[in-house]
Amino acid sequence: MKGAKITAVGSYVPQRRLTNADLEQMVDTNDEWIVQRTGIRERRISREDEYTSDLCAAAVRDLMNRYGKSVQDVDMILVATSTPDMPFPSVAAIVQNRLGIPQTAGVLDLSAACAGFVYGLHMAHALIASGMHHKVLVIGADTLSKITDYTDRSTCILFGDGAGAVLVESGEQDNFRGFNLGSDGSGGHHVYLSGLADQVNGVQLTATGKLVQNGREVFKWAVRTVPQGVQQVLAKAEASLAEVDWFIPHSANLRMIEPICERLDYPFGQALYSLEEFGNTSAASIPLALDLGIRQGKVHSGQQVLLYGFGAGLTHAGLLVRLSLDPQTGEPAPL
Ligand code: COA
Repeated sequence: MKGAKITAVGSYVPQRRLTNADLEQMVDTNDEWIVQRTGIRERRISREDEYTSDLCAAAVRDLMNRYGKSVQDVDMILVATSTPDMPFPSVAAIVQNRLGIPQTAGVLDLSAACAGFVYGLHMAHALIASGMHHKVLVIGADTLSKITDYTDRSTCILFGDGAGAVLVESGEQDNFRGFNLGSDGSGGHHVYLSGLADQVNGVQLTATGKLVQNGREVFKWAVRTVPQGVQQVLAKAEASLAEVDWFIPHSANLRMIEPICERLDYPFGQALYSLEEFGNTSAASIPLALDLGIRQGKVHSGQQVLLYGFGAGLTHAGLLVRLSLDPQTGEPAPL
């Protein structure tokens, strides 16, 4: 079995900011309610002509500039997203062409909602461990603003756009220490974007063309599921929580991260999140939080991070990984 390591990270968010004050002008809400109930202060919103593939390409360019990496020998591109530019071609195929990655690379979009980035890392690890692939780009990216109902105050305050990318390369040592994946399809109707079918689990869906969510149900499920999942990751890695330098759960809501840390008895100060400045960016939220940690000088190569994604499906995925980032040779593009 071959080893795998994360060697480089990059990210990108659109320029336009949507603040809580802006939302006060759009729906019946206020900054105090949003901050108290979610911890979110602003989000980034893509231009009308800016799509998930654009965000992905920019995040990979940031990674290449900072770590002096070439993507000419990438042999697989995995893009986790719920908001592809279109059902097909895949975002991964568009990114291959946009970045001039050789046509010998496999390209695949992955649908696991807010757990998608960690699912992508899990797949990259398996492809490398099997010896079938050597250099995999894993990108988590979403443009949720395009499927957000800006007349629904219970959802429009949450979501934003962004992208994060990592390079997973083969190596002598395996730095992917343990994982846990899971799903509960019976909760599929708690958060959805309707498509060809108008029902799931026998439940009639609202076909608005926008994201619909029962926030309470998702909240309760995640706060129950994630701590158990983290314990599974640690058991598989034969590691303890004390070895986890940084815990990076999906940035859905700060009021979910607090009880999750409490249930785990993990110091809240060692949890990283991207929601204060970017909101819930779905598949992008975990790599954005990781990269914010790197940019702020908190996260260093050699440290162990425990990532845990959860969301529509319902799906969840966790991973304990030791970072082995190559030295940075360039400056990150400003976020
Ligand atoms: N501003 C002001 N009031 C609001 C509001 C807003 N933006 N949104 C909802 N409210 C009101 C509701 O109408 C309700 O009023 P009522 O008591 O008069 O009926 C009250 O606030 C409480 O609503 P509720 O939905 O119970 O709030 P909550 O504390 O559960 O917070 C969420 C709502 C959506 C922030 C929260 O449930 C959440 O974050 N859930 C998880 C979402 C998630 O993880 N999604 C993952 C998908 S990846």
